[in-house]
Amino acid sequence: MIRILVADKLAPAGLEKLQNTEGVEIDVKIGLDPDQLAREIPNFDGMIIRSGVTITAESLANPGKLRGIARAGVGVDNVDLAAATAAGVLVMNTPDANTVSTAEHTMALLLSTMRRIPDAHAHVRSGAWKRGDYVGKQLSGKTLAIVGLGRVGQAVARRAIGCDMRVIGYDPLIGAPTVLDGAVTLYEDFDAFLADADCVTLHAKLTDKTRHMLSTKQFAALKSSAVVINCARGDLIDESALADALNNGEIAAAAVDVYSAEPPKDNPLLAARNIVCTPHLGASTEEAQLAVAMEAVNTLLDYLCNGEIRSAVNVVGLPSHLTDRDRAYLDLTMRMSDILAAWCAEGISGVCLTTCGDNLQTLCPTLARQSMIGLLAPHTDVRLNLVNAASVAKERGIHIDYAARPQQDDYFENIQLTIKTRDGEHHVEGAVFADGRPRILAIDDYRMELVPEKQLVLIFNDDRPGVIGLVGNLFGDRGINIADMTLSRRDNKALMLLKLDQQPDDAILTQLRNEDNILSVQTVLLPSLVNSGSAT
Ligand code: 3PG
Repeated sequence: MIRILVADKLAPAGLEKLQNTEGVEIDVKIGLDPDQLAREIPNFDGMIIRSGVTITAESLANPGKLRGIARAGVGVDNVDLAAATAAGVLVMNTPDANTVSTAEHTMALLLSTMRRIPDAHAHVRSGAWKRGDYVGKQLSGKTLAIVGLGRVGQAVARRAIGCDMRVIGYDPLIGAPTVLDGAVTLYEDFDAFLADADCVTLHAKLTDKTRHMLSTKQFAALKSSAVVINCARGDLIDESALADALNNGEIAAAAVDVYSAEPPKDNPLLAARNIVCTPHLGASTEEAQLAVAMEAVNTLLDYLCNGEIRSAVNVVGLPSHLTDRDRAYLDLTMRMSDILAAWCAEGISGVCLTTCGDNLQTLCPTLARQSMIGLLAPHTDVRLNLVNAASVAKERGIHIDYAARPQQDDYFENIQLTIKTRDGEHHVEGAVFADGRPRILAIDDYRMELVPEKQLVLIFNDDRPGVIGLVGNLFGDRGINIADMTLSRRDNKALMLLKLDQQPDDAILTQLRNEDNILSVQTVLLPSLVNSGSAT
């Protein structure tokens, strides 16, 4: 049973979809604080959130079963992404589902501010009728300065152009001089950009660089008739500086939908002059909430149920869809890493995974991550998965390298995994054959063809007569059946790889290790292969 915690308000259609999905159970708990979350999180496989819940490193300290967090919306500044990655929790968002609603709310605030709608509304409701006190300004002909020309910024630009505004933009991430087919000119100089603006609207992501990007100095650069709109994140603006600029008449008006702390408490903006405030309503339309809820639910279920990754914000480069053959290669990589893991006991400094074959090119980075899971799992208590494998390896100073080679005429598709240890390098090579089953093709350059499953014993020995008989007799005397065996030799040494019907006990392994001509003995227990059919 997959358990999902809905920790914020979600459109009913999203809840229904979860409730009607077989094998899924949900719990709706809204308003949990970080301590309560820390207690709840380990019991759930997935979570759905909006901006009303804060996921801290402490709440993720013991992630338990948790594998995925879906944000029904865009901003993930309320999630400690580094902590989520370290905990192996994939964080996903719905990048485009509320774009239009947020752009429309921006236009609503812009018009409300320019035409003083909230004050005029209160005025009429009070029974008064002084029309001369509420003379506004029209949008047409004014210059709208948009900070951040991403999805929402561009949607606002299109609407403002429709209102006959001149639109200028500022976005250090865009190299081009214009966007929207030349309709929006981009400025490089932020001060010149602000000085040119009649209205400024913020659509940037909150980062350490953008925090307080509008403060005392920037308000001073604006025209005294300027209007500032913020539907992005409260901390983009220094709220005290904005309150001062409004109260001192340095700028004409402002409208804000977002606050440094939500709900706002002791926020100077709540008492400032000429301001319109809304309670983070940008995405709060029926249409946007339906869209974000359905997208968040589908994205989370696809990940939890099928391992499909879409709109991940804390891990890049993982494929969104895995074919059966991709899965067979991931499984093979795991088996190859398990074989190499025995050599990792004293520590590894590097891992290199090479794929050969056009079909494996895009999968290569994922296979490299997968190899880290197998190699590190026996040596750490951290729950490893594709989300955190690379970061856990990095923390331990293990360098992961990968290379995807195109198909070579004389050689078939395969993967090669190499680890660097204190005593040198070890390699395993494998492939998934046309029957869909994995094969190990070489270990440390000893060639072979073996289906890697169940109990394996790797015996390195001097290549002398009698060793095979000795090994066979030892196992035979203990009643242990050898199900399969491959032999390979080079440079007077040989590798004997046995597949046994049962696990050998310590006594027989010690006896083997003490025999003349036996150089080393390692055991590896691999899962049985469930699917013996052909992969597509
Ligand atoms: C977002 O980041 O998607 C918006 O700020 C909307 O946030 P909300 O889902 O909490 O309304």
